[in-house]
Amino acid sequence: MKEKLYFGWMQGFIVLTVFLWFAPPAMAESFAHEFIGAKKCSICHKKPEQGDQYGIWLNSKHAKAIETLGTPEAKEAGAKLGVDDPQTSGKCLKCHSTAYGFSEEMVTSFVPVEEGVSCESCHGPGKDYMKKSVMEDQDAAIAAGLVIPNEATCQKCHNPESPSFKSFDFHESWEKIKHPVPKG
Ligand code: HEC
Ligand code: HEC
Ligand code: HEC
Ligand code: HEC
Repeated sequence: MKEKLYFGWMQGFIVLTVFLWFAPPAMAESFAHEFIGAKKCSICHKKPEQGDQYGIWLNSKHAKAIETLGTPEAKEAGAKLGVDDPQTSGKCLKCHSTAYGFSEEMVTSFVPVEEGVSCESCHGPGKDYMKKSVMEDQDAAIAAGLVIPNEATCQKCHNPESPSFKSFDFHESWEKIKHPVPKG
């Protein structure tokens, strides 16, 4: 009896180990942290002396990605793919909104689709790294889910799967949306 129990435990352990070993890292990442939305980031990231990252983003096309899905042009692009309403279809929202790119279940509960492509699309779900003490320590922030984005991050959406894709030049595009913390 005792031996049987022990064996059961061992088996469970092995199955769990194998699962964790093979679980794709992207999935582990997206479920480990929760979204909080761009307004929360703005508490600290709209001050001019911090570089007003929120204001820069709000004036970028990323913040209007859902509005864009409501245009006649979007309807036309959607119709070709059998999509009636681009503003509610996962086929479009996966790149035009934030949480959809990670997991469909997380959309409504944590970050509204209306935000479009917001901070957490590129920097990762922020609930665990948004504390000031964590934010000021890059290693701690990364451990808590912060992503330092690069060209590959952009290419998750800027790729030929986009119905309007022509080409993507990282350096040129980054110039249009960069939001540095002022030096000094
Ligand atoms: C409580 C204030 C606060 C909140 C809320 C906050 N941040 Fe920060 N963040 C900071 C501070 C302070 C720094 C350090 C900035 C500096 O270098 O002066 C920072 C740095 C960063 C950096 C640069 C990290 C690095 O090491 O290169 C990123 C990216 C960032 N924040 C994104 C976000 C995002 C996205 C959110 C919302 C999910 C957010 N922050 C919410 C205070 C905050
Ligand atoms: C989650 C998906 C997603 C990610 C990640 C993403 N983008 Fe975008 N991007 C979009 C969408 C969708 C649009 C179109 C928005 C619109 O026009 O309404 C867009 C538009 C843009 C535009 C405006 C295009 C123009 O012609 O003016 C620039 C510039 C841009 N992105 C740069 C970047 C860069 C640089 C990165 C990486 C650091 C990046 N994007 C990451 C989805 C994304
Ligand atoms: C793989 C990611 C991705 C998917 C899926 C996606 N889009 Fe986009 N969309 C983008 C990006 C990135 C842009 C910015 C322009 C570009 O490079 O294509 C964009 C731009 C647009 C634009 C503006 C076109 C322009 O020339 O500025 C429209 C309209 C649009 N998308 C409609 C849709 C519709 C409708 C769907 C769903 C049927 C959809 N998109 C699915 C990534 C995507
Ligand atoms: C389309 C992708 C994208 C979006 C959306 C985005 N960022 Fe960034 N962010 C980047 C990239 C790329 C960098 C540069 C990373 C590096 O240091 O190489 C960056 C850098 C930063 C930095 C550090 C700047 C510095 O000079 O050290 C802060 C702070 C930051 N982002 C905050 C935000 C906040 C807050 C939002 C939303 C209001 C936001 N970002 C939205 C891609 C994005």
